[in-house]
Amino acid sequence: MVQLSPRQMVVAVLRNLAHRLLGGIRRGGHKTAVWSEEARRAHGESIYRVLSPYVGDVAGQTGLEIGPGDNLEVCGQFLKAGGEKMIAVERYAQPPQVNGVSVLRAPIESMNLDRQVDFAFSNDAFEHVADVPVAMKAIYKALKPGGRFICNIDLRGHNVFNRPQRPLDFLTCPDGLWRMMFSHIATTNRVRAHEFVQAAEGAGFVVKTAKALASADPAYLASVKPHMLPRYQRINDEELGIVQYLLVLERPVSTRQAVA
Ligand SMILES: C[S@@+](CC[C@H](N)C(=O)[O-])C[C@H]1O[C@@H](n2cnc3c(N)ncnc32)[C@H](O)[C@@H]1O
Repeated sequence: MVQLSPRQMVVAVLRNLAHRLLGGIRRGGHKTAVWSEEARRAHGESIYRVLSPYVGDVAGQTGLEIGPGDNLEVCGQFLKAGGEKMIAVERYAQPPQVNGVSVLRAPIESMNLDRQVDFAFSNDAFEHVADVPVAMKAIYKALKPGGRFICNIDLRGHNVFNRPQRPLDFLTCPDGLWRMMFSHIATTNRVRAHEFVQAAEGAGFVVKTAKALASADPAYLASVKPHMLPRYQRINDEELGIVQYLLVLERPVSTRQAVA
């Protein structure tokens, strides 16, 4: 049974309808443009602290960020660490210009880069990507052999299901109702941890690290699981409970290495 009150459902359906009439999704993510300079910097630094240890030395390298929103602070941090050039691919937001960062306004699935990059990363963006296997293939192609893609994914509910104490309630929502509430609003794709791994391996990546950075409370999970859609009930608790997931993926130097 969907974990949403009738009132919340009606409001969400009407909101989606209004977005549909106004032309659909025009933006996604935090509105960091209205944050203070200090808050934007702190947000970027906190993301950089989580991701950068998996990237290593970036001196003289070119990096790619997927879905920066309207804040290029993380790209700026990699430039400060010695990176030579950053490229940011962003579908909806319009980040301000920053020296050393080129912004490409496109969905990652169909991006067309004029060069290969040494490393790539994304923070809280892959849960919004419409076609995860195609996006993984695009990043694999964009990376030089040996290059890494660090992907931090927020697997919690968004929008009306953004509930810190009940982060997996959104997995109880039937697909038809989901479409009625979110077809024209940026929301999560509901792809689960193991499916990101499958998509990465399908693209040719070697998974160096797959780590749960946060998990749902086991008592909450046990109470909500019987209400979830059957495809989520089939997932084991440890995996299903993951709400923040970090993947470190590497494009192998040779195809033989990928198989080994
Ligand atoms: C939740 S925001 C995260 C912003 C920033 N990375 C952060 O952590 O604060 C997700 C961003 O990914 C972008 N996005 C969603 N799907 C995308 C896609 N297919 N290709 C490129 N960017 C995408 C959205 O426009 C949005 O700006």
